[in-house]
Amino acid sequence: MSYDLDRFIADCRSILKREPGPKGREEVRTRLERLLADKDFVKAYCGDSVPRGLKVLYEDPELGFQILAHINDKARVSPPHDHGASWAIYGQATHYTDMVEWEREDGGKSDTAKLKPVKKYRLLPGHAGIYQDGKIHSIDYPDGARFIRVTGTNLDNIERVRFDLASGKVHQMTPQQAT
Ligand SMILES: [Fe+2]
Repeated sequence: MSYDLDRFIADCRSILKREPGPKGREEVRTRLERLLADKDFVKAYCGDSVPRGLKVLYEDPELGFQILAHINDKARVSPPHDHGASWAIYGQATHYTDMVEWEREDGGKSDTAKLKPVKKYRLLPGHAGIYQDGKIHSIDYPDGARFIRVTGTNLDNIERVRFDLASGKVHQMTPQQAT
């Protein structure tokens, strides 16, 4: 049976109303994989004719979650970063994204951090990864990689940090600076 953006939004709403915590988000992750398995959705929202850039596909007026399409042109390696007091789900539409999950070895309060990689994997089309509250990750994707991201809230409105791996410095992030 086909699945589409409207049904995905309706599922996100009912799941997150019932279960806003990590279990509900995991359910949203599996629904996102279902959405990405739908060729019509991928073509319409992540296909070759879709303009490059970041597009907000939906923002929920009540619960605040967002669904974003990242239609990337150029390859990019992000610094390790968190999603503030939110969470994020990344679902790959085309090409791939190499993910690294990191942990702070320093207790997490100072403005200089020591990070260690704890998990590395490649997100392939149709697969979605989840980053619950406070998780730190970095992403690395090639030219033309496209993905759908679901966040608990508009990340532009909350405090988040990124980490400079060379110096260990912790920086506040500005809106849309990194994903
Ligand atoms: Fe991220």
